[in-house]
Amino acid sequence: MNITEIIQKRHSVRTYDTHPLTEEEKAELISAVDTATDPFGGQVTIRLRSVDPANDFKPSTYGVIKGAADYFLIGIGSDEASALSAGFRFEQVVLKATEMGLGTCWIAATFRGTVFSRGIDWPDGQQLRIVSPVGRPHRPRLLERVTRMTFRSDKRMPFETLFFDKDFNTPLSPEGRFAEALRMLRLAPSSTNSQPWRALVDGDCVHFYYQLKSPLSILDCGIALSHFYLAQQASGAIGRFYKEAGHPVPPEGLKYLYSYIDTSDSDTSDDSAELFC
Ligand SMILES: Cc1cc2nc3c(=O)[nH]c(=O)nc-3n(C[C@H](O)[C@H](O)[C@H](O)COP(=O)(O)O)c2cc1C
Repeated sequence: MNITEIIQKRHSVRTYDTHPLTEEEKAELISAVDTATDPFGGQVTIRLRSVDPANDFKPSTYGVIKGAADYFLIGIGSDEASALSAGFRFEQVVLKATEMGLGTCWIAATFRGTVFSRGIDWPDGQQLRIVSPVGRPHRPRLLERVTRMTFRSDKRMPFETLFFDKDFNTPLSPEGRFAEALRMLRLAPSSTNSQPWRALVDGDCVHFYYQLKSPLSILDCGIALSHFYLAQQASGAIGRFYKEAGHPVPPEGLKYLYSYIDTSDSDTSDDSAELFC
């Protein structure tokens, strides 16, 4: 499977069979954690932990998870870079799990009083903010199907309302430059399927913006930028993220986040690639 097929296959899974991961599967996932890249330099720690699936996971969140015997726990710092890095890095692990035929579900909620908050220390400045079950998907329960219907999880906003060409009044052509990578971005998971991300294409650059829909919107953007970057990379493009002081001014309600420049055609492409660590 290539990355666009994996991105299209991924969806949140909330019902699992109770079998734990094999040691080989765990090793493959840990390797994905170790090799995940991050251009934003935030503080993120990703751990894999087994739990007793008989003790159902009930944090204060909307979709109840059932049957999972293994969870990723993610500790992150409290700044913007950490939220972006967590989204960007952990989504690469989610996509690896998808490729392996395993299900996952981002959960960013309150974990106080759950098994997850006990017995694990996090580096200074980091706190457990995200967990995700990982395991073999089981037939979805009615509750899971209702959750998906409530958040219209199979749907995304139309391409032309999310992405723009040079100014915010001109919708981006779905056939133009960066369109494939933005189509992959659009399939990203987001908290309550809120899809806070927007993008404006201008020549070699894509400027990214977001609507502050919840405290998780920046994390959502990190996930989406991961889809965008992986799709760009798969197309053979070389590029990097940067902050652009002279970015186009967005309409009210949108905030500037980051820009991406495609340096594939420039003489400095090799140097630029090194900037992405
Ligand atoms: C940052 C983040 C937090 C999420 N938190 C929860 C959660 O607390 N409970 C839950 O059931 N699903 C949660 N989700 C899953 C979303 O509801 C789901 O991604 C969205 O509905 C789109 O569905 P899909 O992932 O199947 O494409 C979260 C997703 C993201 C990206």
